[in-house]
Amino acid sequence: MRTDYLDMVLLHWPFGNYYHAWRELEKLQKEGKIRAIGVSNFDPDRLIDLIEFNEVVPAVNQIETHLFCQRKIEGEWLKKYCVAHQAYAPLGQGRVNEMFELVDVNEIATAHRKTPAQVLLRFLVQRGIAVIPKSCHMDRMKENIDIFDFALMEEQMNVLAAIDRAIPLIGDAENPENTEFAMTW
Ligand SMILES: NC(=O)c1ccc[n+]([C@@H]2O[C@H](COP(=O)([O-])OP(=O)(O)OC[C@H]3O[C@@H](n4cnc5c(N)ncnc54)[C@H](OP(=O)(O)O)[C@@H]3O)[C@@H](O)[C@H]2O)c1
Repeated sequence: MRTDYLDMVLLHWPFGNYYHAWRELEKLQKEGKIRAIGVSNFDPDRLIDLIEFNEVVPAVNQIETHLFCQRKIEGEWLKKYCVAHQAYAPLGQGRVNEMFELVDVNEIATAHRKTPAQVLLRFLVQRGIAVIPKSCHMDRMKENIDIFDFALMEEQMNVLAAIDRAIPLIGDAENPENTEFAMTW
């Protein structure tokens, strides 16, 4: 990798001997080879278990989070254990175009002279969630980072909060088919 250290390394899923993997990450962090270590796709029960039986509390839990799967309950557990909530697929992987088409989202976007994507990202950031949208297009990358010069009003936050379906589209840790699929990687 041609670098002396990595900023952050995450355990992708709580599968296999992830306790051993976590302890190896703890060692690498102590040696200064990784600055921060964290996890991904950990439901609250797995996260609490990992925290209770290890030294280092994960800096981050990267979980699928977007308008249709807002992770309100998981977010409260992350706050309680001081683990940063990081949203993957914050735009629903672009699969759910419906998210961009929703009247509520578009009305709020128009009111702030912003795009639907910017509203979707701002909504999460304003809840204290870190977002990592992906785009192959420079104009969209600029658009996605340009969300810090406006704020959604409480009423707008409430409208968006009510759209939650609370079901992951991609990263459902409780779905055995998902687990089987992960074993093929
Ligand atoms: N930890 C995990 O298990 C896990 C799982 C999934 C993803 N991730 C990570 O999460 C990050 C983002 O997730 P993701 O790529 O799956 O989903 P995402 O960021 O929600 O969506 C990406 C899609 O949205 C489109 N898009 C981006 N900006 C847009 C904009 N302003 N307007 C309209 N469309 C826009 C992109 O198209 P264009 O590229 O054509 O612009 C792409 O098709 C990635 O770094 C990924 O590696 C982690």
